[in-house]
Amino acid sequence: MSIEDCKIISLPKIADAKGNLTFVESGRHIPFDIERVYYLYDVPGGEDRGEHAHKTLRQFIVAMSGSFDVLLDDGTKKKKFHLNRAYYGLYVSPMMWRRLDNFSSGAVCLVLASDFYKVEDYIRDYETFLRALKQRRQKRGR
Ligand code: TYD
Repeated sequence: MSIEDCKIISLPKIADAKGNLTFVESGRHIPFDIERVYYLYDVPGGEDRGEHAHKTLRQFIVAMSGSFDVLLDDGTKKKKFHLNRAYYGLYVSPMMWRRLDNFSSGAVCLVLASDFYKVEDYIRDYETFLRALKQRRQKRGR
């Protein structure tokens, strides 16, 4: 679950004179089965979203319209991704602190998720996140 597992994935794009079509298939384009879809929109300028990690949830984030930045932090390394196309997205593995900001006006952020909404899957405090990572590392070392 290092930041190196999180990457931009290109999706198929069928383009013709009538416009573009992109599709996503569970397990084929993204490495999980989609159980939930949600989207962020009408985000006021200068506002940010996220600022949490998920214990088990995997996500795939796409800028359906407009653009925004996704900052990821695995407790050791940080990486920033700029999303601005509907035919690629960012795969985010579990135990990754994330923050979304720099939303352009009219931006729509689509999130495909590997599970239903579960409040107990969230870690909303950064220090708790770091402690949980340390505990996992210690468990693996045993
Ligand atoms: P949250 O995940 O904190 O949003 P963000 O990280 O984008 O700032 O969710 C905001 C609120 O919406 C929170 O009260 C939980 C609720 N929510 C659901 O009920 N179902 C969902 O699928 C999601 C993603 C959030």
